[in-house]
Amino acid sequence: MTTSAPLIVLTGVTGKLGGLVLDLLLKTLPPSSIGVSVRDPSKATHLAQQGIRVRQGSYDDPTSLAESFAGADTILLVSSNDRSGKGESHHRTVIDAAKSAGVRCIYYTSHQAASPTCAFWPMRVHYATEGMLAESGMEYVSLRNGFYMDSINMFIRGVQHTGVISVPKDGKVSWTAHEDLAMATAELMLRPRIEQGRREIITLAAGEALDMADVAKAYGEAKGKEIKREMKEAEEWKTGAVAGGVPEGMADMLLGFYEASRQGDFLSEDGTLGELIEGKTISVKEMFEKH
Ligand SMILES: NC(=O)c1ccc[n+]([C@@H]2O[C@H](COP(=O)([O-])OP(=O)(O)OC[C@H]3O[C@@H](n4cnc5c(N)ncnc54)[C@H](OP(=O)(O)O)[C@@H]3O)[C@@H](O)[C@H]2O)c1
Repeated sequence: MTTSAPLIVLTGVTGKLGGLVLDLLLKTLPPSSIGVSVRDPSKATHLAQQGIRVRQGSYDDPTSLAESFAGADTILLVSSNDRSGKGESHHRTVIDAAKSAGVRCIYYTSHQAASPTCAFWPMRVHYATEGMLAESGMEYVSLRNGFYMDSINMFIRGVQHTGVISVPKDGKVSWTAHEDLAMATAELMLRPRIEQGRREIITLAAGEALDMADVAKAYGEAKGKEIKREMKEAEEWKTGAVAGGVPEGMADMLLGFYEASRQGDFLSEDGTLGELIEGKTISVKEMFEKH
């Protein structure tokens, strides 16, 4: 009798988080026990060469997902990066396809602030997706990931030239590094099956939380520069952003971020991430020192 490991299929491996999780899983699992579902298989030829099963799968194409998930015990659903309102339907398509394919357990990359009312709309998509997982009757682990630390660069664009972070009033955010999230995700996915059988929501957020004044300080210390934090009225900020080329929908989304952060939606004191990675989570200052 052959005892091959149950097949784990990962989505999102051509992206940053999924790619890091795949690399970590490969340190423990044989390539033959891993499959990937990718929108464009030409981006994954190097994975096929390693013996990983590569199948084409788009979140809006159930037939392709059925092929991708065939024979899988567990999948990692990396949330869609769609910004045109298709996120929920993408996730429903993936969950339905996984269920039809007989997948036992779905790991889903949710967000620490998933909620039906958050002012930052992607959080409403994550909350709705968690509802779909609960309704599916399948096992699932929803990983409520902290706000990605590298998103800071989008919020402070131009600071290296201006020396000023000029944005609306904000609140503390548990900025969390992809590397830490990937380590915790791989660790959870590798846990023995006996510890699974679960329908769980786990928050994975960094050990420190910073607002933009703290970010200015961390950036200044890392780069040896004086950085000023300037408060901007929301509408004045939006006018400037749109004039500078930011699409209006994106500017509104970012205003939603500031509002939600003021309400404390992105502040977490949950220590699970630090426990899972057995160490200190990467700090914002360390990110600035590195890049
Ligand atoms: N926690 C946070 O603060 C935060 C911040 C931003 C985003 N997110 C969410 O976290 C996810 C993963 O983050 P990341 O940094 O790894 O993003 P990323 O580098 O943009 O990777 C996204 C991955 O998902 C795949 N994907 C997206 N839409 C798809 C679709 N319709 N069908 C098939 N594959 C699809 C992409 O495939 P392609 O290579 O074909 O594009 C890519 O592999 C994002 O997609 C987003 O939902 C979270």
